Parts: sequence; C-alpha cells; structure tokens
Amino acid sequence: MCGIVGYVGTRDAASIILDGLQRLEYRGYDSAGIALLDHDEIQIRRNVGKLINLRHSVDEHPVTGSTGIGHTRWATHGAPAEHNAHPHISMYGDYVVVHNGIVENYLELRDELSAEGVVFKSETDTEVIVHLIELYAQNGAAHNLTESTRKAAQRLRGAHAIVVLSKRSPGKLVAVRIGNAGGVAIGLGHEENFIASDIPAILEHTRQMVFLENRHIATVTADSYDIQSLGGEPVTLEAHEIAWDPVSAVKGEYKHFMQKEIFDQARSITDTIAGRLDFEHHTVSLPELNLSAEHARSLNRLVTVACGTSYYSGLVGKFYIEHMAKLHVEVDYGSEYRYRDPILDAQSAVLAITQSGETVDTLAAMEEARHKQALLWSIVNTIGSQAMRVADGYITMNAGPEIGVASTKAFTSSIVDQYLLALYLGQLRGTLSSEAQRQYARDLAHLPELVSRTLECDSDVAELAAQLYQYRDFLFLGRGINYPIALEGALKLKEISYIHAEGYPAGEMKHGPIALIDERMPVLAVALKDALYDKMISQIEQAKARGGIVIALATEGDRLIQTKADYVLYLPETPLLLSPVVAVIPLQMLAYHIAVRRGADVDQPRNLAKSVTVE
Ligand code: AGP
Repeated sequence: MCGIVGYVGTRDAASIILDGLQRLEYRGYDSAGIALLDHDEIQIRRNVGKLINLRHSVDEHPVTGSTGIGHTRWATHGAPAEHNAHPHISMYGDYVVVHNGIVENYLELRDELSAEGVVFKSETDTEVIVHLIELYAQNGAAHNLTESTRKAAQRLRGAHAIVVLSKRSPGKLVAVRIGNAGGVAIGLGHEENFIASDIPAILEHTRQMVFLENRHIATVTADSYDIQSLGGEPVTLEAHEIAWDPVSAVKGEYKHFMQKEIFDQARSITDTIAGRLDFEHHTVSLPELNLSAEHARSLNRLVTVACGTSYYSGLVGKFYIEHMAKLHVEVDYGSEYRYRDPILDAQSAVLAITQSGETVDTLAAMEEARHKQALLWSIVNTIGSQAMRVADGYITMNAGPEIGVASTKAFTSSIVDQYLLALYLGQLRGTLSSEAQRQYARDLAHLPELVSRTLECDSDVAELAAQLYQYRDFLFLGRGINYPIALEGALKLKEISYIHAEGYPAGEMKHGPIALIDERMPVLAVALKDALYDKMISQIEQAKARGGIVIALATEGDRLIQTKADYVLYLPETPLLLSPVVAVIPLQMLAYHIAVRRGADVDQPRNLAKSVTVE
C-alpha cells in the first residue's frame, strides 16, 4: 500500500511531509518522492529505495515552500525506478499528482492522451491522471484546479486516492477519493491543513480529522477545506477527534512494531473496555450501535463476516453472543460470503469485523448485507474507515494504531468488543440473569490484569523459540472456544516466519491429521483447565505416542501436564469465556521470536499488506 502526505500552511512543507512519510513506512514501499510549490516554481525530488535516500536528496538539493505533496510507492505498473516514482508532473509542468490505487483503464487513456500529443515519461498508470488534469485545465476548466481534477477523476475506472498540486493555484491542494484504495484524511490545523492516506502520518500535528468517502473531492487551503461529491453536490462531513496518542505510532524501545503491539495489549484492552462497562452496576453501554431493546429482541440471527485474523476473532465471538444473548451466530469469510447469495431478512444482523475498515472482501460482504436489508454493524479499529461509516452502528476497538502487518492487539480488542456486544445484547434481550451479568462484567474487569501477568511469559517463549525455529511444519490444536486460537496461532506463525502451520480442532486429529505426526512436526496444544481438558490430555498422549513433539499451553498449577508434554507454557487461571484472549498471547510471542530468529521481516512480511484493499 502506498503512502500519501500533503501540507498547505505557513511552515516548511518538506520536513512535515518527509516526517509524515516516515510514519507510513510500515506500509511497505520501494520508492519515494516529494513536490513543493515555492512562489510559481514546482520542485520535485524522487528516489528509489528507502526514505533516507529521499532525505539525502533533499539535503543536497533543498526544496522550499509551504505547500507540498509526498508519496511512498509500492510498484504496481512500472518497475521501482526514479522515473516511475511519484509525484508525476504534467507535460507543461503546471500540475503534479500523487496517487494510490490502480487506473484500470489507463491504457485507453494513454492512447487518447498520446493522440493529443502527450509524451509519457514513465510506465505507470498514474501518469495519465496528471496529463488529463492539465488537458482539462487548458480546455475549458480555465486552470480551475478543482474542476480540472474533477473532470479527470470522472474518467478513471478503479479505486483511487489522489492529491494534486498546481503552480497555477498556489496555496491549494485538491484530493479525491474513489472506492477503497486506502483512505484520504484531511487534518485540520491552525492556519494550516494536512492530507494523509493514514492517521499516523499527521497525528503529531492535529487530532481533528475529516475522512473523505467514496467519490468525494476536497479543495484544501491553509485556512479552509471544501468537500463536494464528484457530481458537484456540496458535502458536509463530521470532523473526528482522534484519541490515539502520537507515541503509539512509533516503535519506542521495541525492536518491531509487532513486539510493541503484543506488549501493548493490557493497555489496549483497558482502552477497549473504558467507558463501556459500568463497573458499579455491571452494565454495558454501546451507544454507537444505535440499537433499541425492541429491535434487539426482534433479531433471530447474526452473521459475522471477516477475513484472516478478524475471522478467527468472529469464531470466538460466536460463543459469547450465543451464550449470553441466545442469538444464533454464523461466521463466514468475507471473500466467501459476498458470492454466496446469503439468506437475510429484517430479523437478521450482519457484523463485520475489520481492523483496517478497508478490507475489500469484508466491505463487499457488508454491501451484500445492505442489499438484503439486514441490520449492519461493524467492529473497526481505524476511525473514519469505510466499514465504520457504512454500518448502521459500530463498535471501535480503541486499540490504537496497529502498525505491524500481523494483527495482535486488534485481534484481542475485537474479541473484547464482541464480549461487550454479547453482554449488551443480553441486557437488551433479557437473556441474562443479574447474577450472570454481574459475574461476566467482573470477569471482564479483571482481564487486563490477567493479560499483564501473561505477558511475563515472554522470556520462556523466547527460549522455546530457540528450540523450534528450524522446524518446517507445525500443528496447532485447540477445542471449543480455543479452537479459533489454534487457527490464529498457526496464522501468526506462517505469515511472519513463512513456516507451514495448520490450526485444527483437536477432536479431528483421528480423522486424518494424526497421520502427519512424527518427530519432525511440533504440535502446540491449547490444554487449559476447562471442561475439555481431559480430552486434550488424550490428544497429547496420542501425539506423543507417534513421536510428536508437544508444546502445551496450560493453566498455572497444573502438574499432570508436565508428565505429558515436552514443553509447558503456563498461563494464569482465566474464566473460560476470556481464556482465548490470554491463550493467544504466547502464540503471538512464539511466532514473533521464531520469525526474528529466522531473520524474517516481522513488521512487513513478504507478499503481505496491512490492509487488503484489492481482491
Ligand atoms: C492478520 O495477522 C493478517 N494480517 C490478516 O489476516 C488480516 O487479519 C486480514 O487481512 C483482515 O484485515 P482487517 O481486520 O483489517 O479486515
């Protein structure tokens, strides 16, 4: 995913833009560039490779001005090269553009522009945008930056985030959002305004942000911003107060963002609960859900749609909502649900779980639910994201920015959000006794302390990783509410260490996977002291009998398991329903330490993006 930063104000734009791009580094990129307007001169610097190369260019050949745009590029069309890096400049040098997304019809536009005499300097799809803008500016838009950009944007197919700067419109930037090519946030300052593709880039300057929606165009100056639909209708958007602290968007003393985010989970879970659980009356309030008791009682099914780690979170939430709210829940992959022609009606609710709020498969599943008149909720971490805005009601994760591609704190916060949702639905539907409500609320109140204690197992996990990091295949086993944790533990390991790992319901072992077990395949069993413990012990014995290496997650004080497993990681005793939040932490740590030992790029694993905005 590319990164965009724009600035218009009274300060030196170069340093603001370069620092903003630095905060977007986690998105992965292969080149970077910046363009500033000083009086009527556009100055551009572009470099292949990391941002430090661009900083050196700017140091050697300074750029000046208080209006500018910058970009980090992840190559799609055209190799990583200086001439393919953004910003791209128009043929007569009046306009520069940075862009996220793919111009699906760029070849036909390229032919059309070439026929008009345009000479292309890059192999990118993006370049057609800046030439279209200049063409419209010269023919009829009278160099009106907003109008010429609007006309150009209306010619584009695909999803786009675009920011334009022109020497003919000093002190002005124009931004466009079409579909889901990542967000476009306008940061509101004092005598200065900012544009960014993601919150962390400008959070140190402002907490007040407006988020463009699909087919919006914004004209931004130092002291104003105006938003319209691409069709020309005026649009009013609420400004969001971003509560994230700027510190949480940097690594601090940690080696990787993922490591920081694992250790952030006691705080992030505290923030997820804060303001929603009345500790005195043991009640939950979720006003953003916009749900009446009558409507809650009318529901007869809930469908949870999500992808990857968020899907596994939904599998845990199913236990909560069925148990506390007596509401049938089915959980489906966004990528499957959107093509399933699902049965939904006014008594159905659909819950989308998405950290980024921009996952295209999840958004498409939401669209499907919308068409079928189901009540639409979302659980999101990214404020102002599409999934937050299109839902009838939402619950934010409040986990703070999650920079590492491998999701950790957002996963546990999304589980806690579903626990809160289940309690809230139970209250509204009258399916919870006051004693049960009190007990579940108390259990939740103690969760951050249990997470803090669990985080202390990091050194034990690091030692275990030193024994295991060279194995090529892993099996993760769990039962009941911890079966999704086996799935999540396997995903964490494979996505950052590139080791093959499978999560499996332990009861399924004898139906096939047990044929895999031998001394070359470590088996990780979630064997906490719950109603299924004896069955897990039996599975461990079966694996051991076949020469398997068994690592058990166990409840502190359990001595028997030491006679059964090769390695034991002890966890604090935790109420069953919340045990997934605790059990996942050593698995996150195990994946992290194994990946570090294997020299993998933990925060930006190969082939992966933090937000999958393309199919
Ligand atoms: C999780 O570690 C992965 N990076 C991936 O599976 C992720 O959970 C999935 O792409 C969904 O992302 P979302 O929550 O932002 O929708």
